Amino acid sequence: MIFSPTNWGQISPLFAEGGTDAEEEGEAYVPVRTHDRHLLVQVVPIGREQGGRILLLSDVTEVRKMESVVEAANLTDKLGYVFSGIRHEIGNPVNSIKVALNVLRKNLDHYDRPTIAEFVDRSLMEVTRIEYLLKALKNYSLFESPDIQRIRMDDFIGNFIPLVRDEFERRRVELRVMCADDTGWAMADPRALHHVLLNLLTNAADAVEDRPDGKVIISAMKSGPWVEIKVDDNGRGISEADQKNLFRPFFTSKQHGTGLGLVIVRKMVRKMDGRINVTSYENCGATVTVAPPEADGDERIGR
Ligand SMILES: Nc1ncnc2c1ncn2[C@@H]1O[C@H](COP(=O)(O)OP(=O)(O)OP(=O)(O)O)[C@@H](O)[C@H]1O
Ligand SMILES: [Mg+2]
Repeated sequence: MIFSPTNWGQISPLFAEGGTDAEEEGEAYVPVRTHDRHLLVQVVPIGREQGGRILLLSDVTEVRKMESVVEAANLTDKLGYVFSGIRHEIGNPVNSIKVALNVLRKNLDHYDRPTIAEFVDRSLMEVTRIEYLLKALKNYSLFESPDIQRIRMDDFIGNFIPLVRDEFERRRVELRVMCADDTGWAMADPRALHHVLLNLLTNAADAVEDRPDGKVIISAMKSGPWVEIKVDDNGRGISEADQKNLFRPFFTSKQHGTGLGLVIVRKMVRKMDGRINVTSYENCGATVTVAPPEADGDERIGR
């Protein structure tokens, strides 16, 4: 169908309803709902002086229906999974606290002070566990709209490392920094990136903790359109089976882990349009690479 500029005026309100400015130059795809049908209209301008347009209409009603069914099913599935994880993570400590307090209540007159203190301490430890989970859940919704800035990666890492040095020394884990001469500029949210690296370094330190020669290396280099930051460790590594579960909420091998660390890391990296990759062999350490996009020339000089 070809519409002349005269009857284009009668048709354009239909496009405004679709939420897209169909008067723009160039091709535009406009979703339109008419009665119970869902149409996708492709608008292709022709003959610029006359202002004509070719409209290609596709009926995508059935496709949309199927998509929304699949989306709803997926969401319900995931929500159920997440709710049962939270129930389990909070339910266990709450049960322990309840048992401890009940025993204490029944024996208040018989227990001596050190025993009472022991029960109180145990309950407080369980409260800390719940607090840790709540903090991780809060982190999940942090940086929904990241504040993307130009970051000179060697400066960023240089400022970040002193903040974690003491903790590594306390845990007797060697931490090495190996940055390329020119690590380049990345586009990333500095606070989100800080959070990401903290999580990865904590995982790496946990993985080497029981090794006498435990070592973690953080390195950065330009790689194509990315600035790659690698966190390497020589710890226990991750079995092939566990690698499939790394990004599943609540997957953890640690007594006090939430299993949300990597889920949050991946979400933050994706929000920054970056990439994340994990390689590991059991007992041979692990390498986690996160790569925010490299800043282009204009971004580098702040234009
Ligand atoms: N560098 C690593 N070496 C060995 N295993 C790792 C490494 N990083 C992650 N893992 C495995 O992946 C699991 C999930 O990691 P994730 O950071 O999501 O949660 P967590 O560390 O268990 O808990 P949290 O981050 O809340 O402390 C860990 O429990 C561990 O089994
Ligand atoms: Mg972790």
